[in-house]
Amino acid sequence: MDVIGQVVSLKKAGSNYKGLCPFHNEKTPSFVVSDAKQIFSCFGCNAAGDVFEFVQRHYSLDFPATVEKLATEYGIDTKGAQYQSSNKDELYEINREAARFFYKSFLTPGNPATAYMQGRGIDSETTKRFGIGYADGEWDSLLRHFKALGTDVKLLVSLGLVTESKGKHYDKFRDRVMFPIINTSGKVIGFGGRALAGAEPKYLNSAESSVFLKKNNLFGLNLTKQDISKENRGILVEGYMDVISLYQHGVRNVLASLGTALTENQAKLLKRYTLNVVLAYDADEAGQAAALRGAEILYKEGLKAKVLQIPSGKDPDDYVREHNKSGFLELADAALPYAEHKLEAIKKKYDIADTDGKLDFIKEAVVFLRTLSPTAAETYIKMIAKDINISQNAITLEYNGNTIERIEKTNLSKSAKNEDNTGKLPDVLEKNLIRFCILSKDYFEKIQSFEHAFTSRYGYEIFKSLEAYYLQGDGSDVKNVMDSLDENGVKIIEDILETVFFAGKEEQIFADCIRKIESSGLIKREKEIVQKLSMADEAENAEQIDILTRELIEVQREIQRKKS
Ligand code: UTP
Ligand code: MN
Repeated sequence: MDVIGQVVSLKKAGSNYKGLCPFHNEKTPSFVVSDAKQIFSCFGCNAAGDVFEFVQRHYSLDFPATVEKLATEYGIDTKGAQYQSSNKDELYEINREAARFFYKSFLTPGNPATAYMQGRGIDSETTKRFGIGYADGEWDSLLRHFKALGTDVKLLVSLGLVTESKGKHYDKFRDRVMFPIINTSGKVIGFGGRALAGAEPKYLNSAESSVFLKKNNLFGLNLTKQDISKENRGILVEGYMDVISLYQHGVRNVLASLGTALTENQAKLLKRYTLNVVLAYDADEAGQAAALRGAEILYKEGLKAKVLQIPSGKDPDDYVREHNKSGFLELADAALPYAEHKLEAIKKKYDIADTDGKLDFIKEAVVFLRTLSPTAAETYIKMIAKDINISQNAITLEYNGNTIERIEKTNLSKSAKNEDNTGKLPDVLEKNLIRFCILSKDYFEKIQSFEHAFTSRYGYEIFKSLEAYYLQGDGSDVKNVMDSLDENGVKIIEDILETVFFAGKEEQIFADCIRKIESSGLIKREKEIVQKLSMADEAENAEQIDILTRELIEVQREIQRKKS
């Protein structure tokens, strides 16, 4: 209550409190907080959870930061943690002071950085918002400023603000526009300094240090994380200037990596705010190659990456200045999903009009498809088949043919590690289903629509091998599926063949299995409805309560029927 009440204005409604949901746009309140139960729930957007969930979502923090925030604000003792971070705090404070110093110079009349940013169409509101500064052309302005404050020069050197040469110290950033890089907790972790008039290098960045780890941070995210969450999409660009320019034009869900290739940790960071990312990299060859690599990293972290293409060799900054927000958003909406984009890029390498060209394309395409999930691969096999007018079966064969080799190669090394990982072994239900799939094609086809019941890695792999086997339909022994499995997979199938018997009761046991699959979904839904109903306001959610109650009765009846 106390925590949420700071953010949402809440009114008492029955035994609960009510207000406008902070997680989606609404005019009539459907956000309910229960003080007794210490939970919140929204009927509009399905957000729900406890105080940690709320703080995490609202302030876009990770879990440790959430705990820290709640602890400091509500007086919980975290002395240990504070002691550890005291040295870092000092470094952050120095960076912040440097940012203030640069910012002040940027406001001095007649300084060249202000003129430069104006020349690039960036207004003063935006430069203020990003805290853009100016490092003047002297050799020791910043150094003198910090000496006057009594700061230890060693710390300035360790942050890369000051350089040491032959026992002399001088400012590292001179005559540059300064972009402070601020992490999602609002700490200044470093700077990017852009040269004014063609000096080299174009950008100087702060040195890597305990507070500035490029691979863990993203530029702009401190300002844009809320917009990214709200829109449930992030626009990832290459350059600091692209972020600043898009932001000014109203594309506010934007961010950039820090001058290096996108990393796994950056993908993980971004994932806290959205799963949907559009990569808007420069149109040149380097930019396009980097976009594909970036998209692959995001894809591997479970994000949905799309690649946007900017026409006529432009970068996002040029494009949005010419075509405004709406023009840029059109491009973003037309962006191709990563896999489609990658397949397009592969296709461009071959002459599809030519039969050999087609085959070479398929050979390379399936190598890529094997890096995707089996379901995604299947979708794209269909798409390619249609696109280049080749039978789906032919592509699947190519895909499966080499799959055997691949599974052997990649899994043999892993199998030892996975041996005692029981979470990855098929449960009784999966074993039964696999036994049925082996028993006959009829059963296999019935089970196909319950693919989601294979929740273990091996269960799923075995099911997929069986699927490939039936798809090929070459009449060979079903035991040949073992050829495409690794040692563990083979062991599991052997175990199933030895231990799972239906003893003439196939139909009954099969019906049981299907009931089990269906009711696990139902039980989950039952819990959801009960939670929602417990939060509903009798007067204001009357209609929803009615609908939910009816659904609950249906669901519970279904569950009962399946049990009996
Ligand atoms: P760009 O050259 O595209 O920079 O490099 P930009 O931000 O779009 O700037 P303008 O529009 O040319 O002025 C993309 C990013 O690569 C990093 C920076 O992070 C930059 O924003 N970079 C580039 C460096 O770190 N050092 C360099 O010398 C150049
Ligand atoms: Mn650029």
